[in-house]
Amino acid sequence: MKRVVLAYSGGLDTSVCVRWMQEEWDVEVVALAVDVGQGGDFEAIRLRALTAGAIEAVVVDARAEYASEYVSRAIKANALYEGKYPLVSALSRPVIARHLVAAAREFGADAVAHGCTGKGNDQVRFEVSVRTLAPDLEVLAPVRQWGFTRRDSIEYAARHAIPITVTEEKPYSVDENLVGRAIECGVMEDPWVAPPVDVYTITAAITDAPKEAREFIVGFDRGVPVTLDGIPTPLHEMITELNALIGAYGYGRIDMVENRRVGIKSRETYECPAALALIVAHQDLEAITQERDVMREKARLEPRYADLVYDGLWFSPLREALDAFVDSTQRHVTGEVRMRLEPGRCFAAGRRAERGLYDYELATYEAEDAFRHEDAAGFVRLWGLSVETWARRQRTEEPVVPRGDTHG
Ligand code: ARG
Repeated sequence: MKRVVLAYSGGLDTSVCVRWMQEEWDVEVVALAVDVGQGGDFEAIRLRALTAGAIEAVVVDARAEYASEYVSRAIKANALYEGKYPLVSALSRPVIARHLVAAAREFGADAVAHGCTGKGNDQVRFEVSVRTLAPDLEVLAPVRQWGFTRRDSIEYAARHAIPITVTEEKPYSVDENLVGRAIECGVMEDPWVAPPVDVYTITAAITDAPKEAREFIVGFDRGVPVTLDGIPTPLHEMITELNALIGAYGYGRIDMVENRRVGIKSRETYECPAALALIVAHQDLEAITQERDVMREKARLEPRYADLVYDGLWFSPLREALDAFVDSTQRHVTGEVRMRLEPGRCFAAGRRAERGLYDYELATYEAEDAFRHEDAAGFVRLWGLSVETWARRQRTEEPVVPRGDTHG
């Protein structure tokens, strides 16, 4: 009998998957729940998989690995898909895929399976990741095949005594992990309609935020957040702590229409307070530690990095090459950023770096000024020489110079 390892969330769809694959395809199912910080009672999830018919159900705590191997790289790359989305779901799929493959080896499985639909990005990420990690494994996608409506799935679960709690009947599709929450469906499918307040669970409404401003300090080592208010903190713990702190100030919500890899424009609602704040802090520290041309070139590559992760190409030579470049740019991105929280806002209010490039004696207008003022006149003349020559010899239209009162 064939054996399949299923990426199991404990929700309605993957619970139905367990039973449906057994009945329709006559396979043995091993359920694998990967903890990437989504919260929930994993023992209850494990038992639910067994009740649904899994021959084995395992839980893997991948939070530290997820933060240190995946999220930290995305922070170093300031990765925001289409300039906004910090890749909540996209980053978690490769780490889940890696554990699926590991479990397939451990349990001697022939295939892995996921509960993604055919319309989304997550199927792309799971399947491409598994194919690059283990080309010999088959990848099964029951949800893409069964053609159930949500009602059908609920009925199927009831008929087979698969225990589903009422929370699964919410009208939204939610994907959650350390980086934040992605909320889709329901009334949000109309991009004109504001997301209902009840979709948010980790960010408060701005009107409920503390009136009192407050600050926290993030310390970075070569681009990676390593301390919070001076205390060494593993990244997964820092993100959890900051989600609570920053979320309470009503910062971190995103409402956007994005381009899915499968060609659909989709209305997405996210809340990711810590991830957004850490990227703001990181960019701020880069501004003081990175040489100008390096900053420019890196900024040009950042959207490419985000696209790659979004498009399911985490395990790819380009991602590795870009990471090598990014790491090289991060050698001196070490220092501290003082972040300030006000209702609905989170911003950098101070930054310092021992090997920073900010040079007080060059920047100051005070007596300590060490800038060579005499160099400026010749520099500026040569800087503009080319356009000055053009204006003298070739300009055909008279420049518009305002008449009358002139200032400055
Ligand atoms: N649109 C986002 C992405 O592709 C979120 C996907 C959320 N997934 C889900 N199963 N609800 O990364």
